[in-house]
Amino acid sequence: MTLNAAIDDPDEHEGQHSAQQQRAERVVQLIRDSFAVVEPRSDEVARYFYAVLFTIAPETRDLFPVNMEVQRSRFFGALVRIVQMIDNRQELEPYLRQLGRDHRKFDVVERHFEAVGTALLAALKRYLGDEWTEEVERAWADAYAIVAGVMQEGAAADSGPAWWAGTVVEHRKLSSKVAVLRVQPDEPVPYRPGQYVSVETPQRQRMWRYLSPANPPSADGTIEFHVRSVPEGWVSRALVHHTRIGDRWRIGAPMGSLWLDHTGSRDLVMVAGGTGLAPMRAVLGELEQRSQPPNVELFFGGASHDDLYQLDELRQLAERYPWLTVTPVTEDGSEPGGAEGTLPDVVTSHGAWHGYDVLISGSPEMIRATVSRMLVTGTTFDQIYYDSFPTD
Ligand SMILES: Cc1cc2nc3c(=O)[nH]c(=O)nc-3n(C[C@H](O)[C@H](O)[C@H](O)COP(=O)(O)OP(=O)(O)OC[C@H]3O[C@@H](n4cnc5c(N)ncnc54)[C@H](O)[C@@H]3O)c2cc1C
Ligand code: HEM
Repeated sequence: MTLNAAIDDPDEHEGQHSAQQQRAERVVQLIRDSFAVVEPRSDEVARYFYAVLFTIAPETRDLFPVNMEVQRSRFFGALVRIVQMIDNRQELEPYLRQLGRDHRKFDVVERHFEAVGTALLAALKRYLGDEWTEEVERAWADAYAIVAGVMQEGAAADSGPAWWAGTVVEHRKLSSKVAVLRVQPDEPVPYRPGQYVSVETPQRQRMWRYLSPANPPSADGTIEFHVRSVPEGWVSRALVHHTRIGDRWRIGAPMGSLWLDHTGSRDLVMVAGGTGLAPMRAVLGELEQRSQPPNVELFFGGASHDDLYQLDELRQLAERYPWLTVTPVTEDGSEPGGAEGTLPDVVTSHGAWHGYDVLISGSPEMIRATVSRMLVTGTTFDQIYYDSFPTD
């Protein structure tokens, strides 16, 4: 069964669902219902999953970080969420292809997929008890096979390197929480503005995290990253406080389609929360090079004035370019001349933005809230662009 055949085809005329599609809907329902049963114990399920995986394929232990206590649910949680999204074909398929491509940096090979599938089913079986029926088992096995198959196809189709090495050439703290880091890759990384990459640093080996380049590809190949340290964050705190010039990083394959999907030439609204500004800066960098850039309304938001790093630079850009307007947004109203409220509040207070395309970047919660408020306000779904799949 292919991903296409596994799920509902939106072009299919009403009432003409094939038996295969009905089966696909049933698969999705069985997966969601059965996962809802084990979800309250997901920590134990993840623990069991890893125990099985490392028993049947001991070589996979070395692919994961040393300290599994902290990370236990990261990969397992992502895996399950993706399998549950099996009916979101149009977005899931390209995402899985690039996830597969990106997994080469973990040294994942084909036989590992079988072991992971076996461990996943074993863990679900144990914690579902009587609710683990033959039909449920088949549903999970089919869905996993489809997801793993698309990832493997994506990996096989890419002949580029699994990762790029780079050296930190600049580390500049902008505040106690945010730092700008500039990395010089040994070979240029072929990313597009608005994409993100995962990185691994010497301070936190095998703990890969996503970061968004804040500049479009440059002549010298350097990539600028904006990093915010999050409370209790393993990697972000190390990056902001302990990065050293000369550190060697590994950089994974570029991912995401925030800007790639946007083929229109309409004016733009950009909604950026916190370091969600980084991909917007990369897109702005590309627009600066155009002879006729579209008009851009950039809303840059945070809890308070202190969160709006690089606001001065943005204001300077807006002075230089008549096509750019910058509106700072703070929840506590602490930015003089800015708007008070959350990003969704402020952006939708301007109406539906007919005639504009909207790019959104920031925390998953902010993206979700902004998308749903905009849809209620009358913005249509085809006007809105964001990366919906990142799972951490
Ligand atoms: C597509 C994408 C692009 C990203 N781009 C950037 C970027 O350009 N710059 C950047 O700084 N980060 C970016 N991130 C976030 C980054 O990948 C890490 O998730 C973040 O730095 C936290 O990692 P950590 O190891 O410090 O925290 P972890 O050790 O993984 O998590 C520690 C705790 O912090 C919580 N936590 C995780 N993230 C946040 C958060 N943002 N706010 C509050 N609590 C959190 C976790 O739930 C956990 O409880 C991006 C994420 C995605 C998905
Ligand atoms: C259907 C199959 C799979 C899916 C959907 C999947 C999904 C994911 C996702 C979303 C992440 C987190 C994002 C990232 O850091 O890039 C991740 C991390 C990871 N995956 Fe996979 N994966 C799959 C198969 C595998 C296999 C077969 C292996 C090999 C054993 C593997 C090893 C890893 C490792 C080592 C990490 C990083 C460690 C961590 O952050 O916990 N994955 N996976």
